[in-house]
Amino acid sequence: MQKFILALDQGTTSSRAIVFDHEGMPVASSQHEYPQHFPQPGWVEHDALDIWHSQLACAREALAQANIAASQVAAIGIANQRETTVLWDRASGEPVARAIVWQDRRTAGICERLREAGQAAFIQARTGLEVDAYFSATKLQWLLEHVPGARARAERGELAFGTVDSWLVYRLCGRHVTDTSNAARTMLFNIHTLRWDEELLALFGIPAAVLPEVVASSETVGLAGEEWFGHAIPIAGIAGDQQAATFGQACHRKGLVKNTYGTGCFMLMHAGDAAPVSRNRLLSTVGWSIAGRTDYVLEGSVFMGGATVQWLRDGLGIIRQSSDVEALATSVPDSGGVLLVPAFTGLGAPHWDPHARATIVGLSRGSTGAHIARAAVEAIAYQSAELLAAMQKDADCAVTEIRADGGAARNDLLMQFQADLLGVPVVRPRVLETTALGAAYLAGLAVGFWESSEDIERQWQVERRFEPAMDADRRAFLMGRWTRAVEHAKLWSS
Ligand code: G3P
Repeated sequence: MQKFILALDQGTTSSRAIVFDHEGMPVASSQHEYPQHFPQPGWVEHDALDIWHSQLACAREALAQANIAASQVAAIGIANQRETTVLWDRASGEPVARAIVWQDRRTAGICERLREAGQAAFIQARTGLEVDAYFSATKLQWLLEHVPGARARAERGELAFGTVDSWLVYRLCGRHVTDTSNAARTMLFNIHTLRWDEELLALFGIPAAVLPEVVASSETVGLAGEEWFGHAIPIAGIAGDQQAATFGQACHRKGLVKNTYGTGCFMLMHAGDAAPVSRNRLLSTVGWSIAGRTDYVLEGSVFMGGATVQWLRDGLGIIRQSSDVEALATSVPDSGGVLLVPAFTGLGAPHWDPHARATIVGLSRGSTGAHIARAAVEAIAYQSAELLAAMQKDADCAVTEIRADGGAARNDLLMQFQADLLGVPVVRPRVLETTALGAAYLAGLAVGFWESSEDIERQWQVERRFEPAMDADRRAFLMGRWTRAVEHAKLWSS
């Protein structure tokens, strides 16, 4: 009987499920968007039950579409939006409040006070993270303080905290776990000892009783009950979505880099089996833990990637759908000197400026919507180029190519401009669903569906390679001009 792996890719705006065969090829998939809640400016929430129901529905649909029985699924792998903080009642399995999403800025003030109190270096040394509202610790702290009775109940062990992986595993099999890659994004986890850090728990006022047990990224943690798919299926892989994509891109060796062009852009470089130290404001974080070995990555996160194109559609109304952007942007030979810095929600790495605001500079009487569209696409590449520059300064090895994935990686104009700006080839793989694929690989390795990471490296294939075609002087001119534009965006902080 032919076997498959079911990958669940629980993202910020939609839940997806993909069935992969032994060649690592998708055979069926399903996707459900679910509601986003913005109760106040800067706040972003999800109903954890929407996450669960949408994820379950697509998993069932993908299996039905693949026309396979649940008994043919060798294992389930989970990749998830990271940092998003869920708090639920252990007994009933019901959330006690809406989940606070990674994009939510309500705890920026708590972070500012921590920095003022001189805690940033200590927190970075333990967790590899910048002190920012992006991570879970201050979100959990906020929930314990604002949900009536939550702190007392958490101390009594009645509540469970988890990122979205924990939440899904809890619903699927009743175990309260998280893997090292997700734990590393909470700001409560010591990435060197691979344990929850008591001093950080004390600093954030988090009772240990609320925390999940930390497991490897590739191991069987339980069986998804028969009630969900008609047959019990081992849950054998868990990783944060960006780490999963890095694994799915076969970036298994030091120096290999992937960049995901999704809502945001997330560039991750494999950094070996010891936590790197960033001197350029990148994150040092866990990639994955497999069979007793933990691999680490350096990460640069840009908050507005493809979301900038959505703003052209929803905010400016100059395109009808996101895919129209390529045609509009290529209708002009260049941006005509227009630069758009998409600091709509502040700036992430390497600036970490929550107060910066989006800016368009270089407009002239002849500027059109097409120039702005082109500037928006180019902004994605400029921001990614800043990440790579920081990475190259931090890393002790040269980067020879960037592996691209995510929806906007389909945009040839963006891929070519990216290669030009980086001066490094950008490679697009045949399977662009690398996040789900990475989760499938982690699960498949645990149950012997795939034997080794060499098996996986053999499956990774190039669809197209974009070679840099810009001379170094032009590249330096463009990056210099971009840096000046970013300064304008930062002016709004002062
Ligand atoms: O850190 C946030 C990241 O994991 C979100 O990814 O794909 O849901 O936008 P995505």
